[in-house]
Amino acid sequence: MTAKIPLLIDTDPGVDDALALLVAFNDTAHDVIGLTIAAGNVGLQHTVRNALKLCEVAGRSEVPVFAGCAAPLLHPSPDAADVHGLDGFGDTGYTPAAHGAQAEHAALAILRLSHEYAGRLLLVTLGPLTNVAVALKLDPTLPQRVARLVVMGGAASAHGNLTPAAEFNVAFDPEAAHLVFQAFPQFDVADWEATLAHGLHHRRVEQWLAAPSPRAAFYETISRQTRLWSADRRGDHWHSADALAMALALHPDGATELVERPLAVELAGTLTRGATVTDWNRQTGRPDNARLLLRYDQARFEALVEAALAAA
Ligand code: BDR
Ligand code: CA
Repeated sequence: MTAKIPLLIDTDPGVDDALALLVAFNDTAHDVIGLTIAAGNVGLQHTVRNALKLCEVAGRSEVPVFAGCAAPLLHPSPDAADVHGLDGFGDTGYTPAAHGAQAEHAALAILRLSHEYAGRLLLVTLGPLTNVAVALKLDPTLPQRVARLVVMGGAASAHGNLTPAAEFNVAFDPEAAHLVFQAFPQFDVADWEATLAHGLHHRRVEQWLAAPSPRAAFYETISRQTRLWSADRRGDHWHSADALAMALALHPDGATELVERPLAVELAGTLTRGATVTDWNRQTGRPDNARLLLRYDQARFEALVEAALAAA
């Protein structure tokens, strides 16, 4: 039997983070070795609480949850409570998980686990990159031990969601994204534009959410508010950025179109701070650090989401 791939997820749950975590928990080829938690969609006290609850609902309370940085590296940034609810999980008033987070800081946990699983670690980031940036500052050799980094973030052609040019995860903490993009020689990116190209039809999602499983029932309630918001704002299809990134991480062979280019973060612009700049024509002479997802097998993506919700 082949050993499972150790999977460490840095996340800011968040409704779409939750779906990505369910997809990860349902994967038999990967072993979720921990969740490191960032502030982003909402404040850290909520994202930690949500991560713990999601683990409990999925019957995975043994997965260690590590609280990380409560704010971006340099500049405060608004959260996404308008999309995810004030508590990040749709304000359903759920009963908190019975267990708590670990004492170890997320950045330290990233470093420790990178040693324990050196050369095999799959690191997936679903939120602002603050924790990974701090880990890199503490130990710049981190990338040498990470087998693969998959980032949900950015907007390859500057079709942003937080601002006209910038995507939320990068724009929340541009300096952190800058440090990570500079430090890792190569990483995979599922950006906001790929997310837009892989919408999930609301009617199909509703069918999946009717599955007789505690995971589907919980997810139906926490995602209701954001699905209504999305239907109102974006029409027939719902977009789950983090779930698509997780599909790319777990099943890279589902990607049907990828492109490698140098990717950098704009730190200074008044209109464009936090935008990701793709050097499409390779004018900078910088190496191709990012492998950008353009197309993923839609049926495969949907099957992963459906199965994750239906899992007992
Ligand atoms: C990203 O921002 C967050 O609101 C989502 O959880 C996702 O990680 C999409 O831009
Ligand atoms: Ca997220």
